[in-house]
Amino acid sequence: MDIVRIFDTTLRDGEQSPGFSMSVPEKVRMARQLESLGVDIIESGFPIASQGDLEGVRAVCREIRSCTVAALARARRDDIDAALDGLAGAAHPRLHTFLATSDLHLHHKLRLTREQCLEAISSNVRYAREHCAEVEFSAEDASRTEIGFLCEAVGRAVKAGATILNLPDTVGYAVPEEYAAMFRRVIDYLDGANGITLSAHCHDDLGLGVANTLAAVQAGVRQLELTINGIGERAGNAALEEVVVLLKVRQATLGVTTNVHLDQLYATSRLLTEITGAPVAPNKAIVGANAFAHEAGIHQDGILKNPLTYEIISPEEVGVPKRQLVLGKHSGRNALRATLVDLGYQPTQEELDECYRRVVTLADASKSVSNRDVLAIAHEVMRKRGSETAVAAE
Ligand code: KIV
Ligand code: ZN
Repeated sequence: MDIVRIFDTTLRDGEQSPGFSMSVPEKVRMARQLESLGVDIIESGFPIASQGDLEGVRAVCREIRSCTVAALARARRDDIDAALDGLAGAAHPRLHTFLATSDLHLHHKLRLTREQCLEAISSNVRYAREHCAEVEFSAEDASRTEIGFLCEAVGRAVKAGATILNLPDTVGYAVPEEYAAMFRRVIDYLDGANGITLSAHCHDDLGLGVANTLAAVQAGVRQLELTINGIGERAGNAALEEVVVLLKVRQATLGVTTNVHLDQLYATSRLLTEITGAPVAPNKAIVGANAFAHEAGIHQDGILKNPLTYEIISPEEVGVPKRQLVLGKHSGRNALRATLVDLGYQPTQEELDECYRRVVTLADASKSVSNRDVLAIAHEVMRKRGSETAVAAE
């Protein structure tokens, strides 16, 4: 079975979006968890962007020894030098350089001709490859690039030494058939693209990030760029947890696998919400508080008889804690705190008190309170913290 490599860009595309910035120690904590999750590549930052980004990349490189660590650079010498500086201590470094290829970006944003674009790709990818054993080239706005020119551009990148070609749907504009067709054309142009890894990177502006990522896999793409909880520029990136679970649940149809340990997904999602203070929506697939909650009587009845009736994956498989610590009105705050920590929360005293008040009220009405009830309560209470943080930051 083919392995699809997972390239996590939570610390770069995710972190660069409003409300998700992380300190250097937080990035390191998150990177350690991503390593435990089993992603293949961690994109650790964009070193030219700020001293903090550069420090973050350096710290992640020092800490992470089993995954490849990537750093982003525009196709310019100073950017590439900054990224190389950041990557210097990495066990498995990858220089990720990008240049827009659509006429819209070339003409209006970069004021480059197509010829200048091709020249910049050749010279900068070559320079990057002279200094780093593994180079990825991204054709920004690939999905809106005229296909003939896109082929020429990626051909230049390959000739200059890039072995990973990423074709992003930068503004989330593509529909799945189109996005897959683009990859098929490029693979054809590169005579099967032997020795080259094609990569998908999908933004979610029209809610198609995961669908487009799936279409890319079906077209032969074997690296996927994703973020935990789907965070990222604007509407975000395709969510890692959704894509890897999709590939697992539909493995028989899709015929691919990943190195991700699914049972670490929930903890990874919780760590990110804890670090950023930005909770996920309760109905978010895989990691939302309601993702495995069944309210309707008919559904509850079905689940009790056979979970497969309404659950296509069990909560335990994605790491939603199995232990049902039954909390009743006689349970103390300590038991509640332990449950909350188990579920990935770090409540303040005030939040613990508020959760406790709600748990006792619920226990009064229904005798016992399950982990899923606690999750829903914690989510509600912590969400307040998230919105207060957001207000404070305004
Ligand atoms: O969305 C995008 O095009 C990107 C590139 C820099 C890879 O994030
Ligand atoms: Zn992006």
